Amino acid sequence: MADNTLVLTNVTKRFGGLVAVDDLSFTVKQGQIYGIIGPNGAGKTTVFNCITGIHPCEEGSINWCGEEIRLLSPHKIVQRGIVRTFQTIRLFSQMSVAENIMSGRHIKSSQGWWNAIVPTPGSKKDEKKNWQRVGELLDFFDLSDVTVNAAGSLPYGTQRRVEMARAMATEPKLLILDEPAAGLNDQETLGLIETIYKIKDLGVTILLIEHDMDLVMEVTEYLTVINFGKKIAEGTPDVIQKDPAVIEAYLGSEDDDE
Ligand SMILES: Nc1ncnc2c1ncn2[C@@H]1O[C@H](COP(=O)(O)OP(=O)(O)OP(=O)(O)O)[C@@H](O)[C@H]1O
Ligand SMILES: [Mg+2]
Repeated sequence: MADNTLVLTNVTKRFGGLVAVDDLSFTVKQGQIYGIIGPNGAGKTTVFNCITGIHPCEEGSINWCGEEIRLLSPHKIVQRGIVRTFQTIRLFSQMSVAENIMSGRHIKSSQGWWNAIVPTPGSKKDEKKNWQRVGELLDFFDLSDVTVNAAGSLPYGTQRRVEMARAMATEPKLLILDEPAAGLNDQETLGLIETIYKIKDLGVTILLIEHDMDLVMEVTEYLTVINFGKKIAEGTPDVIQKDPAVIEAYLGSEDDDE
């Protein structure tokens, strides 16, 4: 399998006695915008933590481009072209926007730490190329006006864009977004939808978790729905909206909230 396909097969992740992800299988094809939805605590973020090596799963297989990546370190997974953003923003808040994006370049870099102390002509050339790329990403994510601002001082919606820019700085083939619209106002959400389409146009596959159903139904091409760690439905957004098991899972969770 040479193309950029992600295949999860019978993935199970336990935390002590709790089965957070239960025998889950799904396939994300190259170029898709693929959604994972489900009520709070369903196990969505845990699936992302398994894929990105943060919490490796004990059972099942995670295959990316024909390679088993289940037990690879998070760093190696980024180097294979899979990168994610977090449900709760994780930026270097004291560092500038540009430096945050640059940190994404360094994750991917082949240069060693010693090049920071004794730069070689090769490392200097790489650094120049990296800053050029950061400039392009500042434009792409409409961050040029806040280049030197400390990331932590910016409004929430802008911080979300910085996080996506940093992820894109690693030049991923698969971008994983955990609730990218959380905390955004309506206008920012529209901007996010536009950005997601622009990233897809670059040939990047997108896997996202989102509670904003308008966004999910608009942008995703295919969905997996999970509840209590198990898949309860999969299909295109229009099919999923009418699925009785999905409606039941969401209405059930609303009742619980009340
Ligand atoms: N590191 C952890 N240690 C122990 N339990 C965990 C851990 N991470 C998640 N869990 C538990 O696993 C279950 C699934 O959590 P997860 O965060 O994956 O849900 P989610 O679908 O992302 O929810 P939400 O929509 O609220 O973000 C929950 O019961 C949660 O408490
Ligand atoms: Mg979550």
